Amino acid sequence: MPRSALVTGGSRGIGLAIARELAAAGDDVAVTYRSGQPPEGLLGVPCDITDSAQVDAAFKQVEDEQGPVEVLVANAGVNKDQLLALMSEDDFSSVLDTNLTGAFRVAKRAVRGMMRKRSGRIILISSVVGLLGSGGQVNYAASKAGLVGFARSLARELGSRNITVNVVAPGFIETDMTAALSEERQAEIKKNVPLGRYGSTEEIAKTVRFLAGDSAAYITGAVIPVDGGLGMGH
Ligand code: NAI
Repeated sequence: MPRSALVTGGSRGIGLAIARELAAAGDDVAVTYRSGQPPEGLLGVPCDITDSAQVDAAFKQVEDEQGPVEVLVANAGVNKDQLLALMSEDDFSSVLDTNLTGAFRVAKRAVRGMMRKRSGRIILISSVVGLLGSGGQVNYAASKAGLVGFARSLARELGSRNITVNVVAPGFIETDMTAALSEERQAEIKKNVPLGRYGSTEEIAKTVRFLAGDSAAYITGAVIPVDGGLGMGH
């Protein structure tokens, strides 16, 4: 039986690779998107995760079309980088609102059905930066570190219901964002990565597929780094 999976921000980048990987594993996969057309072959549900009413409507649509969400991947995220001294309060709170409170909104909505079913998988996409820190990213790093405490608390709340909650912490991944960096900056980054290269979106997606699958049934509250060794397990 295919499971009902939902990936937030799954219309491009890492989220799209995760959605395609879960679909390849046999799940029915929905992705949230905000503009343009949703990717072909996946159920597209319009949703801005900063708006609870839109989150609720998106879940209703997924429930109607492929059943209650059994696998939730909270992937949608933004960054607004700036040194603290120059960062506006809005730059700080809007990044937290999307990256951390957004995960709260979708997880809260998803657990209802999972608790009823007494099974479920929740996977939160954090970042190596949440654990190592990064100058110019206090807002982003705080939101990504926050996901770790969130996941570990929720894992304790939901363990007895056979629901696992885990975090994937990607390092530098080949996306539009990293391609836009200067060659010098790219070389500098790669020098700090023991494996000497960026990761691919597929490498994140395969880790998520593992955590969503039967092989990971006894893993919960874990932070899995997929970063070429940059964070050395942190
Ligand atoms: P991206 O910018 O290509 O994709 C982000 C997705 O989130 C987009 O689909 C966007 O529409 C969606 N999104 C943003 N705000 C939203 C909102 N309010 N409501 C609904 N959807 C919203 O970024 P990328 O690189 O694919 O990143 C995906 C996740 O992985 C993010 O959480 C990011 O922080 C994280 N990450 C990325 C790394 C990288 O090297 N690209 C490294 C570590 C973590």
